[in-house]
Parts: sequence; structure tokens; C-alpha cells
Amino acid sequence: MGIEGSKQQVLDYLRRHRGEYISGEELSKKLAITRTAVWKHIQALRREGYQIDAQTRRGYCLLSIPDCLYPEEVAAGLRTSWLGRNLYYYDEVGSTNQVAKELADSGAPEGTVVIAEAQTGGRGRRGRSWISPPRKGIWFSVVLRPRVVPAQASQLTLLAAVAVTAAVRSHTGLPPGIKWPNDLLAGGRKVCGILTEIKAEIDAIEYVVLGTGLNVNLEATDFSPEVRPLATSLLLELGRPVARLPLFQELLYQLEKWYERWQEEGFEPVRRAWKEASVTLGREVAVNSWRDVFRGVAVDIDAEGALLVRGAGGEVRRFTSGEVSLRTAS
Ligand code: BTN
Repeated sequence: MGIEGSKQQVLDYLRRHRGEYISGEELSKKLAITRTAVWKHIQALRREGYQIDAQTRRGYCLLSIPDCLYPEEVAAGLRTSWLGRNLYYYDEVGSTNQVAKELADSGAPEGTVVIAEAQTGGRGRRGRSWISPPRKGIWFSVVLRPRVVPAQASQLTLLAAVAVTAAVRSHTGLPPGIKWPNDLLAGGRKVCGILTEIKAEIDAIEYVVLGTGLNVNLEATDFSPEVRPLATSLLLELGRPVARLPLFQELLYQLEKWYERWQEEGFEPVRRAWKEASVTLGREVAVNSWRDVFRGVAVDIDAEGALLVRGAGGEVRRFTSGEVSLRTAS
């Protein structure tokens, strides 16, 4: 067994006896390693942020685990059956979407997840960048291989928004609103963005990479001055920090649940949940599409997830892509 493996065993042992003091001798006997090795592993775990008390006659006691998204910690409380079971963790990476696409290209199975504590080249929609400072958000990408035609892939982006909304609501009590197609707003500002990338042939999807950036504990100063008026975080909305690890586990659980439901029952249940959480429908909007800017009232999303907007003359236009701005009532 390698060093990492036996360090993991020390952690697992302490975790199973959480709140109890375990002697160095017991650890060394049970795990068949020297007491010096036990001590070295304890030191390494402390450097990773685990709080471990050491007392001369009593031994070691695990007091707290860090709010890091280490794969072992994620796996320890994960309620999914397949999503996130193949997990790639990075302390820092360019873009988790980029890594996920490379993995998908080399055959990574459905449900593979790439998570990073920080991104140096986080990407947003329409070529924008995505601010991803260390340990303050949940920056992750999922590889999916849905058995649907490429035209239906955009339903997945709405599904992701529904799943993230459900996870945030159940974990924090804060109910985000969804701006079409999949921006999550809190207090009128963007708290989460989703970037969907797809590789497909004309009639079959090879894979979809669903990249989610959830602003958890960012302070106002973490955002650039241009983004600041438009962006927010769970910390800023709730006035308290939010533990990322259980929230991430809940995100994966909700994503798996909604994805399976979509594959079994189709888009209608997703559509209903999306409409319930929508802050777009019934509002005056301006839709910036490749064609023009169209103003009107957002009236519905259709059975494919496209946005229907009624213009001043009563004509209804259908959008499958575009950037929506909500116009404030004057
Ligand atoms: C948007 O512009 O609203 C989409 C933002 C998506 C950001 C996430 S963070 C994790 C993943 N990796 C990226 O480079 N982008 C997505």
C-alpha cells in the first residue's frame, strides 16, 4: 500500500471513531504501519486542513474536516449511484469544462465529474470568462452521454438549472430564481451560471459536458468592478458562509435524480419545475439573439424548452438560444 493509501486509512479510522481518542499504538497495530508513519500522516492531514487533536496519553481525535472538495470527502457522504463516482479533483485547473471534454474524448464514462478548488481560465457563455477564486465556489463539470437526438440537448441546460435550484433551496433555504435558459439569480443578481458544451453528429450525441459555477462564499471584492453590480454569492445573500462539501454532494444527487427522470419521463416534469422556479415568465424581456434584439413579454417555454416571447404587435417569437435581459417595470 502506498503512502497516500495508508494516510487515507488513518483518516478513515479516525473518521469511524469521530469524537474518540485513538492511540498511536492502536492505529499502528490496526493499520500495520509504524508509529512514525502514523505521526507523519497526522501531520500531512493537518496540512490539508483536518483538525486533529493529539494528547499524550490518549492519542488522536478528529475534531473537524476541512471544507475542501477532496474526492474521499465527497465520496464519504455521496447519495448518488453513478454520478460523481468517477471524480477528478484539482486544487487548481484552467477550466473544468476543458478537462472534462478531454476526458470525454478519451472515453470517460457517463457521470464522470471534474471539480476544482480554483480555475485560472474559467469560461462563461458567449466567450466570457468566469471568476473562480480558490475554495469560494463550486466549479465543476459533468460528462453525460444522453440517449437523445442533439436537438434535445438544450433541455439538459434547463434540467441543470432545475437541479441546482433544488439543491441550493434544500441546503440553504434560499430559493434562487431561474432566468432563461439557465442563469440562477438571487436578489436579482447572478449566483450561478451553467455552460453546456456538446459533441455530436447530426443524429447522435457523443457527449455533453455540463459545467456549473456556483458562487458560494465569494465576497463582493472577489468580483471584478464590471461584474460586481450583476453578481452575487450565497454568502452575500444569506449573510453567512455556506459549507461547500454537503452542498456539492446535494448538487450531484439532484443532478442524477433529474437526469434519470428526464431520460425516463421526458421533458415535461423538468418543464414544470423550471416554470415554478422561473423569474422570466410573465416579465418584460429583451432577447439578444444572433439576429436582433427582440422586446416583449416572456409567455412560456415550449415542449422543447424554447422561450416564447410575445411582441408588442401580438406576434409570438420562439427562441432556442439568446441572451435574455429582464426589464425592470417603470
Ligand atoms: C455562464 O456564463 O453563465 C456560464 C458559466 C459557467 C462556469 C462554469 S465553472 C465550471 C465550468 N468550467 C468552466 O470553465 N466554466 C464552467
